[in-house]
Amino acid sequence: TGYITLDDGYGNTGSCKSAITFIDGDRGILRYRGIPIEQLAERSNFVETAYLIIYGELPTHDQLRKFSDLLTLNQMLHEDMKFHFEGFPPHAHPMGILSSMINACGCFNPSLFADEEVSQFDLQVAQLISQVRTIAAFSYRKSKGLPIIYPKKAYKYSANFLHMMFSDPYEDYELKVEVVRALDLIFLLHADHEQNCSTSTVRMVASSRANLFASAAAGVCALWGPLHGGANQAVLEMLQEIHQSGDDGSKFIQAAKDKNSGKRLMGFGHRVYKNHDPRAKIIKRQCDILLETLHIKDPLLDIAKKLEEAALGDSYFVERKLYPNVDFYSGIILRALGIPTEMFTVMFAIGRMPGWIANFKEIREEEGSRIYRPRQVYVGPTIRSYTPMEERK
Ligand code: CMC
Repeated sequence: TGYITLDDGYGNTGSCKSAITFIDGDRGILRYRGIPIEQLAERSNFVETAYLIIYGELPTHDQLRKFSDLLTLNQMLHEDMKFHFEGFPPHAHPMGILSSMINACGCFNPSLFADEEVSQFDLQVAQLISQVRTIAAFSYRKSKGLPIIYPKKAYKYSANFLHMMFSDPYEDYELKVEVVRALDLIFLLHADHEQNCSTSTVRMVASSRANLFASAAAGVCALWGPLHGGANQAVLEMLQEIHQSGDDGSKFIQAAKDKNSGKRLMGFGHRVYKNHDPRAKIIKRQCDILLETLHIKDPLLDIAKKLEEAALGDSYFVERKLYPNVDFYSGIILRALGIPTEMFTVMFAIGRMPGWIANFKEIREEEGSRIYRPRQVYVGPTIRSYTPMEERK
């Protein structure tokens, strides 16, 4: 069996070769397919960036139109899937619903809207990217007992999500350019991030040749935890708790440094970034712009800024190289958009779908790719004899 090296939490293990996303954690650099995140945030949009991540190149006009049309054609869930929503209790967490429903998607006829020119994979990509958004909005409406709103053909990706979330059968939600842009940016900034916990999970499942929907559903489960995607919900809950307690953040900072308090400064720290998370910088700027345009004064933003300032000047955080990550300010934007806190991680999942799909594609297309099967360092008893029941203590 040979000698096995333990790498706790895979901190220094390259689990695969990948040409999708580049991160330099020491310099705070993030690039999708070689293009800096700052340029994409400034000039691209979520759908175009999704194409780039999945297919490796920025689309031509014609490619983008076809991709966009395919998303639109596949945005509707199979009508029978609506009954599945009824099986969940009203308090079910939307991430649990999302993962179940993505798996359910894989059970419905995948060639429902097939076009002869479109490959099965391209079709499933479109279904997944488009329907994950429909599922998310439907589950929100269902949880509130509101009538389900179907997507509109004329609306673009992020606008359609807002429409399905907030329109009523008798009155359409008023789409503001700044609001749509902010949401689209959030999706874009989450679109991929190398071999994080959920992406590694997707690759792990995909390596067994499980289907795309099953692999993505597993990714949703991994993303759910508060140390990963669930951090955006945890950040907002933390800010609310601080606000309600009358603290300006200083007491909380002390608690976050105390290992026995059970508290961490959520939205701070990252396994790879030992410098500013470039996504956090962009999100912080967007947060300021959005709140100003919408004339929103959010006390949680003030607390967040105070916490950041205090942490960046505190030796505990400085020595450990803990900086704000993508989740630190994204929740304040989502709250300003009217997205309920328990849906924040779902927003992350919608955004991350292109990255999971690209990683699925990469592993499937790699010549001679093997099933992922790590080893362990066994620390249990060496050998023992079976004890009959009457002799057991
Ligand atoms: N607050 C207080 N202390 C912290 C924090 C924090 N947010 N993050 C790390 N530390 C301390 C930790 O206690 C440890 O201290 P020591 O060396 O004295 O034992 C040291 O910093 C290193 O932390 P670690 O947990 O070993 O680092 P990791 O790479 O395993 O974990 C992390 C990375 C992101 C899980 C962690 O920083 C964390 O829990 N942050 C808060 C949750 C969060 O914001 N998660 C979102 C990550 S970004 C979005 C995503 O990709 O999911």
